[in-house]
Amino acid sequence: MPEGKTGALPVPAHIAIIMDGNGRWAKRRGLPRNAGHKQGAKVFQNICDYCRKIGVKYVTAYAFSTENWKRPQNEVNAIMELLRSYLKEASKQTRKDARLLFLGDRTPLADDLQRLMENVERESANNTGITICIALNYGGRAEIVSSARELARMAAQGKLDPDSIDESLFESYLYTGGIPDPDLLIRPSGELRLSNFLLWQLAYTEFVFQDVLWPDFTTAHLDQAIDQYTKRNRRFGGI
Ligand code: FPP
Repeated sequence: MPEGKTGALPVPAHIAIIMDGNGRWAKRRGLPRNAGHKQGAKVFQNICDYCRKIGVKYVTAYAFSTENWKRPQNEVNAIMELLRSYLKEASKQTRKDARLLFLGDRTPLADDLQRLMENVERESANNTGITICIALNYGGRAEIVSSARELARMAAQGKLDPDSIDESLFESYLYTGGIPDPDLLIRPSGELRLSNFLLWQLAYTEFVFQDVLWPDFTTAHLDQAIDQYTKRNRRFGGI
C-alpha cells in the first residue's frame, strides 16, 4: 500500500499507544503515582472517543506489561482497580459501538477481572464502530513464544507439518490474531523505546514520540501525531 507516493496518507486505521508518564505527572504535582494512573485512564477514554469520531478503526493501548508486576504492590493493585472500574463501566464504550478486546496472559489476573473481561468481549463482539484492544499482562516476547509453543505442540502431535508454518499462520496464533498491524505507534513522555510492546506487529509501523506526559495528552496531541504520520512515505520495504 504505497499511498505515500501519491500524496498524504489517510487517517491511520490502527493506532497503538504506550500510555507513559503517569508516575512523573503525579510526582510533579506532589501526588501519589496512582493519581497519575487515574488521570491516565480518563485520558484513555477521551482519546478512544475521539479516535472513533475521526474514523480510526483500531486503538491498542499498553495498560500493564508482564514486567509491571515488579512495581510496588499498592501500585499494581491501583492499576488493577482502575481496570476493574473501567470494565464495570464498559457499557459506556460498548454503547458507542466499540468492540473491546484484551491482549496478554490473563491467567495470573484476579478471577473477577477475568470474568469481567470475558463478558465485555462477548457482549461487544459484534460492534463495528471501533475496536479497542487493551494490552494487559502483555509482553511482546511472551506473545511470540506462546505462538511458537502452540505451533510446536501441534507439530509434535502430528497435526501440523512444520514446513507449512509461514508468517500468516504464526501471526494467527498471536494475541492479536485477525487484527491488522498498527499503522501508527505513539509514545508520549519523551522515552524512545518499545518496552516489549507489539514486537511482531510494529515491523512496518510509523513511530511518533512526543514530549508530553500521558495524563496531559489531549486530542490536539493526537492530531499532531496523525499529522506527522500523514506526511510520511510508507514503503513497506519497496522503493
Ligand atoms: C506507564 O506510566 C503507565 C502504566 C504502567 C499504567 C497505564 C495504566 C493506565 C493508564 C490506567 C489503566 C488503563 C485503563 C485502560 C483503564 P509510568 O507509571 O511508567 O510513568 P513514569 O514513567 O512517569 O513513572
